[in-house]
Amino acid sequence: MSKPRRHMPSISAVILILSLSLSSTLSVIHNQEPQVNEESDPISRFRNYLRINTAHPAPDYAAAVNYLTAFAATIPSLQIRTLYFTTPDKPLLLITWPGSNPSLPAVLFNSHLDSVPAEPSKWLHYPFAAHLSDDGKIYARGAQDDKCIGVQYLEAIKELKSKLDYTPLRTVHISYVPDEEVGGFDGMAKFVESKEFKELNVGFVLDEGQASVNDEFRVFYADRSPWNLVIKATGVPGHGSRMYDNSAMENLMKSVEVIMKFRENNFDLVKAGWAANSEVISVNPVFLKAGIPSPSGFFMNMQPSEVEAGFDVRLPPTVDPDLMRRRIAGEWAPAWRNLTYEITEKGPLRDYMGRPLVTATNDSNPWWTIFKQAIEAAGGKLAKPEILSSTTDARFMRQMGIPTLGFSPMKNTPILLHDHNEFLKDSVYLNGIKVYEHVIRLLSSFDGATVSETK
Ligand SMILES: *[C@@H]1O[C@H](CO)[C@@H](O)[C@H](O)[C@H]1NC(C)=O
Ligand SMILES: *[C@@H]1O[C@H](CO)[C@@H](O)[C@H](O)[C@H]1NC(C)=O
Ligand SMILES: [Zn+2]
Repeated sequence: MSKPRRHMPSISAVILILSLSLSSTLSVIHNQEPQVNEESDPISRFRNYLRINTAHPAPDYAAAVNYLTAFAATIPSLQIRTLYFTTPDKPLLLITWPGSNPSLPAVLFNSHLDSVPAEPSKWLHYPFAAHLSDDGKIYARGAQDDKCIGVQYLEAIKELKSKLDYTPLRTVHISYVPDEEVGGFDGMAKFVESKEFKELNVGFVLDEGQASVNDEFRVFYADRSPWNLVIKATGVPGHGSRMYDNSAMENLMKSVEVIMKFRENNFDLVKAGWAANSEVISVNPVFLKAGIPSPSGFFMNMQPSEVEAGFDVRLPPTVDPDLMRRRIAGEWAPAWRNLTYEITEKGPLRDYMGRPLVTATNDSNPWWTIFKQAIEAAGGKLAKPEILSSTTDARFMRQMGIPTLGFSPMKNTPILLHDHNEFLKDSVYLNGIKVYEHVIRLLSSFDGATVSETK
């Protein structure tokens, strides 16, 4: 084990809290909002975390890590480490609550530190002020995705310790990773490959999910995997007045037609209600590069000799990636039509054993059974498990063969991740803490056998 930094509850933590109150006061002045009960209640703590700007392209990871460290240091028996897998500006915070039987596989709760950018001019309230409206809405970038769960994990542990004096049987870890929103390559991807991660002996992971607009919590057992596809066509250039076969543009357009037909077939399945959006292969054209630029636009009398088109393709884990590669080679970009292509796979589709990246949501997976029981114990109800349309860091853990579910306890909430005016209601946030109290307690006291499938 390399030498991780251990922070113990200390004077420096207290100083940190003080300095954090100071910095959040500054942002409050900026937003001209009164400060209430600084640091004394969960809503204030959540809002202060939201005020730390960890949006790309310049996320302030250090401030977020300092803030969470200071809070965690106020909860007895938590161990705190900051790990660095790339550069010093990309810390990974790891908090550990040791179990009474540390030889059992541990439970990991993950969230990412970063968020996507926000355009303040399009928001009702400054996105890093964490404005609390009269009807209890907390407006901030990251309120749903995913700073809520990051603090809720700690609040739940704080409650379990102070109210129940509960000690877990299995060790509980909480990880706060950088760079999820830019692909996770310098964050979770590096973490799961590390010696430190292997030493955690993780048996089950809960990662972020998404809001639900109704009364049932959503849960995700797989992600779709993104492929970036770029198709290039070459052909004989010619005068714009001449009609001839096999120009670069003609060949590319034929390819686009085939792809758009495939898109339509898949989209029709969704429109007919036979499949969810995330259960089909989606394809969206995202760029076309063609034409010979002229000072006023393009030369109209010139048919270009090289053109290209880019597509965002998303594959559910049920798809055979080899079949997809053959379809692209044979139908979408056939070489005989003078097309070449490049696929950039933005993450794994199969785990290290060659199995699809899915986590079982039936009784074959004891973690699922316990998770479900915990939600019910918290008075909640789970919706039918879903494949996530987009991608999260969960795929890196699933690739290691570790069962991983995506879950964020937000119900009766509009889905606003990456949107303007992202908000979460204070009551929904507080209920989420209660949910995690049950989830953390049941998962960490699970004494049954689990099939260890990890490397
Ligand atoms: C492909 O390029 C070759 C060589 O320029 C040409 O002879 C052929 O007609 C082209 N075929 C198509 C389908 O564009
Ligand atoms: C449980 O789910 C997994 C993964 O979806 C599936 O392969 C398996 O057949 C299911 N087992 C049972 C008993 O239904
Ligand atoms: Zn997220």
